[in-house]
Amino acid sequence: MLPLRRRLIVLMFSLAFLAALAAAASSTGNPTPAQDPGSETLLLAGGESGDVIFPHRRHQQSLGDCQVCHSLFPQETGVIEALKSQGALEKKQVMNKLCTRCHKEFKAQGKPSGPTTCKTCHAKAG
Ligand code: HEC
Ligand code: HEC
Ligand code: HEC
Repeated sequence: MLPLRRRLIVLMFSLAFLAALAAAASSTGNPTPAQDPGSETLLLAGGESGDVIFPHRRHQQSLGDCQVCHSLFPQETGVIEALKSQGALEKKQVMNKLCTRCHKEFKAQGKPSGPTTCKTCHAKAG
């Protein structure tokens, strides 16, 4: 055991170090920025059926909950294709389990909904 005075000095240095760390973190870290809403409109790769124009902002506004989609994939451009190529998402999984499923559910409830047929969602007729 160190003498009491030495222990106090060590303790004070540790506290000063922690305070400096906290100060550094709060000055360089992002002080809770407004959440990045991403692009207003996104062009999603739709394979041989052609690209899909996705009104991102409009969905954010009408659904109100980011996690409806972003629990399946993170908030990053191109992440769906990246996860598909890694095998972490199946091809057409987002399309079938997320996009089309929701549109069909809303339609069945008589609510405004999005496209449910290939050609109305994929730009290229195919
Ligand atoms: C209806 C589905 C859906 C909802 C709801 C949704 N997003 Fe997204 N978001 C997407 C898709 C699809 C992408 C593109 C992923 C890709 O490129 O592979 C994306 C991408 C993003 C990106 C990456 C930048 C960009 O524009 O490509 C950010 C940031 C983001 N979303 C933020 C949000 C926030 C914040 C919310 C809630 C306010 C939200 N999103 C709600 C589907 C959604
Ligand atoms: C609500 C919009 C929507 C509808 C309706 C839709 N798709 Fe898609 N499709 C997408 C999106 C978004 C993707 C990219 C994400 C994914 O693969 O899940 C996609 C991906 C695809 C792919 C590429 C898969 C790959 O990775 O190779 C093909 C092929 C495809 N769709 C065919 C179809 C066919 C055929 C139909 C009709 C039976 C259809 N889609 C209906 C939105 C849609
Ligand atoms: C949880 C429900 C939900 C999910 C998930 C969802 N949508 Fe929609 N979508 C809607 C609703 C509701 C509307 C109609 C009301 C509106 O436009 O806000 C709509 C409208 C649309 C429209 C038509 C916009 C217009 O101009 O008329 C497109 C295109 C579309 N969605 C594509 C997609 C694609 C692609 C995905 C998947 C990446 C997707 N949606 C995921 C609920 C959803």
